[in-house]
Amino acid sequence: MTKVDLSLQIGSLKLRNPIMLASGTVGYGNEIAEFIDLNKIGGIVTKSISLKPRKGNPPQRIVETPAGMLNAIGLANVGVEQFLKEKIPFLSKYDVPIICNIAASSVDEYVECTRILTSEETIKAFEINVSCPNVKEGGLQFGNSCAMVSEITAKVKAVTDKPIIIKLSPNVSNISEFAKAVKDEGGDAVSAINTLVGAAFDIFTRRPKLKNVTGGLSGPAIKPVALAKVLEIKQKVDIPIIGIGGIMNWKDVVEFMIAGASAVQIGTLNFIDPYASQRIVGELEKYCLQIGIDKISELTGSYIL
Ligand SMILES: Cc1cc2nc3c(=O)[nH]c(=O)nc-3n(C[C@H](O)[C@H](O)[C@H](O)COP(=O)(O)O)c2cc1C
Repeated sequence: MTKVDLSLQIGSLKLRNPIMLASGTVGYGNEIAEFIDLNKIGGIVTKSISLKPRKGNPPQRIVETPAGMLNAIGLANVGVEQFLKEKIPFLSKYDVPIICNIAASSVDEYVECTRILTSEETIKAFEINVSCPNVKEGGLQFGNSCAMVSEITAKVKAVTDKPIIIKLSPNVSNISEFAKAVKDEGGDAVSAINTLVGAAFDIFTRRPKLKNVTGGLSGPAIKPVALAKVLEIKQKVDIPIIGIGGIMNWKDVVEFMIAGASAVQIGTLNFIDPYASQRIVGELEKYCLQIGIDKISELTGSYIL
């Protein structure tokens, strides 16, 4: 059997295959390591890290919806210091690129986190979360402003040589302008998409099901939205795209790549079937063989309109 080349490169970030694990859905990698061989995955994106530890929002923080889930975790995390001390030693045992996701409530905090973490060898790239819908400060206040996205991209780029990926919000009507802002300031890639703002009510108590009232919708319900956003960016801006949103199987991955994604991230699926990401790698290889492609990167943006 001829081997298919599943590898790809985003700036200096080399991935053995396009399957990455999405931020917030596998903890710091440790939560999924008992189910899959992390060395078989393209990359792991850590839970969002902030400068200081954050408790996140009070419960109820998760609600199941007909085709996905709403979460309002509120960026609960251990903070930079504990991340370096307690989480990095575990991750450094694996031969898989670690992409550190950073969240912050000010531009200075994004810069400071990146500056501190850039000397850690285990971290191969940064994903900057400017799109969390579940916090009062530091979420969509950044992700909804092109000027803020430009400023954050430029300032974090200035303190690191590692690739910078900006994770964009779908809660805008012109996502390609945000991707252009990232490219213009030297950003290496964009991730699209983060969750969509959603809500759910209990019809008997008439109260919101989430304590935070609104949360981020993820899962199959958002896949068509995510595909349209990826396509819009691909058509208008020449920047690598990491596609995210509702991926449930290998066919969804192929769809994202055809729409323009160089790589993808798997999120909600990790909660349903923690074995899936590793299985999908093998299934993608079979698909490429079946259609006679020897480099999976040929799929990226290969749509025919
Ligand atoms: C429980 C949960 C926690 C999440 N936490 C984060 C986070 O800390 N940082 C971040 O950038 N995205 C976070 N996300 C968003 C995911 O990384 C992803 O962008 C989103 O869920 C869409 O992909 P999916 O439909 O495959 O889940 C979280 C998603 C879920 C479901």
